Amino acid sequence: MSYANLHKADIKAKVEQLLSKMTLAQKVGQMTQAERLTCSPAQLKQYHLGSILSGGGSCPGDNTVQDWVNTNDEYWAASMEQDQDHLAIPLLYGVDAIHGNNNVRGATVFPHNIGLGASHDVDLLKRIAQVTAKEVLATGVEWTFAPTLAVAQNNCWGRTYESYSQYPEIISQYAKAFVNGLQANLDDNSVIACAKHWVGDGGTTNGIDQGETTLPELDLRNTHITPYYQALDAGVLTIMASFNSWNSEKCHGHYYLLTEVLKGEMGFDGFIVSDWDGIDYLAKDYFDTVALGVNAGIDMFMVPENWQLFIEHLIKHVELGNVDISRIDDAVRRILTVKYAYGLFDKPRPAQRKHANSESFGSAEHRAVAQEAVRKSLVLLKNDNDVLPLSKHANVLVAGKNANNTGHQCGGFTIDWQGVDSNEKIEGGSSIWQGIKALAPHAELSTDPLAIEADASKHDVAIVVIGETPYAEGMGDIRQNDDVIIEAGSQIKGQLKVLEAYGKSLELSQLHPEDLALIESIHAKKIPIVVVLISGRTLVINPELAIADAFVAAWLPGSEGQGVADVLFGDYNFHGKLSFSWPKTNKQAMSSRHQTCDADYLFPHGFGLKY
Ligand code: BGC
Repeated sequence: MSYANLHKADIKAKVEQLLSKMTLAQKVGQMTQAERLTCSPAQLKQYHLGSILSGGGSCPGDNTVQDWVNTNDEYWAASMEQDQDHLAIPLLYGVDAIHGNNNVRGATVFPHNIGLGASHDVDLLKRIAQVTAKEVLATGVEWTFAPTLAVAQNNCWGRTYESYSQYPEIISQYAKAFVNGLQANLDDNSVIACAKHWVGDGGTTNGIDQGETTLPELDLRNTHITPYYQALDAGVLTIMASFNSWNSEKCHGHYYLLTEVLKGEMGFDGFIVSDWDGIDYLAKDYFDTVALGVNAGIDMFMVPENWQLFIEHLIKHVELGNVDISRIDDAVRRILTVKYAYGLFDKPRPAQRKHANSESFGSAEHRAVAQEAVRKSLVLLKNDNDVLPLSKHANVLVAGKNANNTGHQCGGFTIDWQGVDSNEKIEGGSSIWQGIKALAPHAELSTDPLAIEADASKHDVAIVVIGETPYAEGMGDIRQNDDVIIEAGSQIKGQLKVLEAYGKSLELSQLHPEDLALIESIHAKKIPIVVVLISGRTLVINPELAIADAFVAAWLPGSEGQGVADVLFGDYNFHGKLSFSWPKTNKQAMSSRHQTCDADYLFPHGFGLKY
């Protein structure tokens, strides 16, 4: 842990002193994290809970910054009551601020990690993390479940966009910068980071979310474990266990990976949090799963709804001797150490903290960083006859379902778990169309699916903004056939959690035939076409690319669509280079990367044109 300026010995003494006063119920409560919808502040106190989370889209009140601060204030006050039954231990409130404080209305929403991966700008990553920390602190929250260090190896995986790159070396650099940006000096400007998901989440067979990663140990280490070394080096205080299995054993119950490798060999001295109900799949009987998770080395349990049962079971296990009290003490020690290291015990109530309700939330200054990130993440794949950059005086036709839809351009994990549709729910920022209009006054928006108003005598060029629509986690998976569908989701010993997949193919023309139809319709009118692709992964785009004069991969750029226009109209040059190789065929796209060599790809990693 990087709390060099704090005295480790002092913290240790404080932790031991507090621990010695705690009852078993208080210790088990400290290891428990409930979802805010299922647990009132009074219950938090009654059961001595150590943490509350907001799941994706779980937002208090009208989802204003003030609503969040008020909510956290109430939980904090309950956690700090000291009486004969309760010890004052401040809670940790956790959220998925994975591309900005993305749950909250009016937040600055950054590009998803796949776009940041293409920017290859470590300093930018750090600044993004700093802005994210401030916007999280504005809401009175102190813990974000980020960064994701997944090394995505198969585009079928619905979480590919949470991965910076298919290469662990690239992710390693970002891991360090991002954790440093979030946690800084563990002072008033810091939030607690959580590297996730430990480990092998990006390596599952067929890219199935929460699936099975089958790899020799050396490959698991070289590919999926590698980025964690840099996160640890930066002092990451928490790590989340992963839903996937490694060689048929669930990571949530994996003593070797959690305790021996991470805590032992790698020396991680923060705490491990489980993923959402992540222990549920360790055994058929919930009672058994609790002991399996604790004994494997998980310290805090994200048991959003089941928390009362979890507490009951864990106390019983200790009484029965299935879980040794030394394991409980170790977990609580780790949790309390993180709370002390972060200075949580010395902080005032959330409403009185330095950045609470800060006006910098969603400010122009913060959005400028996001706009820079958008500009730097764009990758130019084709630019025939130098159709780009466009003249600001040109008569530009703008079309496509993602042209004027900030919800779509933000992707999943924005306001709602699965993301949102339309401009209304994303407050502030600009759609790509709005960004274009601001630079090119003659630009015209077509909302017709085939852009019937396209006319070569009126339009010099068309910008067509197409691609995927929002999804998160397994809902973004691509699954080809039924035998893959029954493998989907978390499963062990016959338990299945089947999620509806996004589609069956990674060909854009199969997933979204309306996009090709639109491009063909404009092409038939002999208007040059600039395609801007919104997507959470590299898709097979051969027919679209063939007709386009220029083609830009914009990933999931977030709230600042203006950044796309800045580059299309030449105020800035292209900067981004692929951090994932670009597939040529669906077969290739649907297979894991280590099965294909880079040279076979349509565009190799590192590709990206410039003006
Ligand atoms: C995801 C995690 C996330 C958690 C809390 C889970 O479904 O896998 O990445 O942090 O939910 O929202």
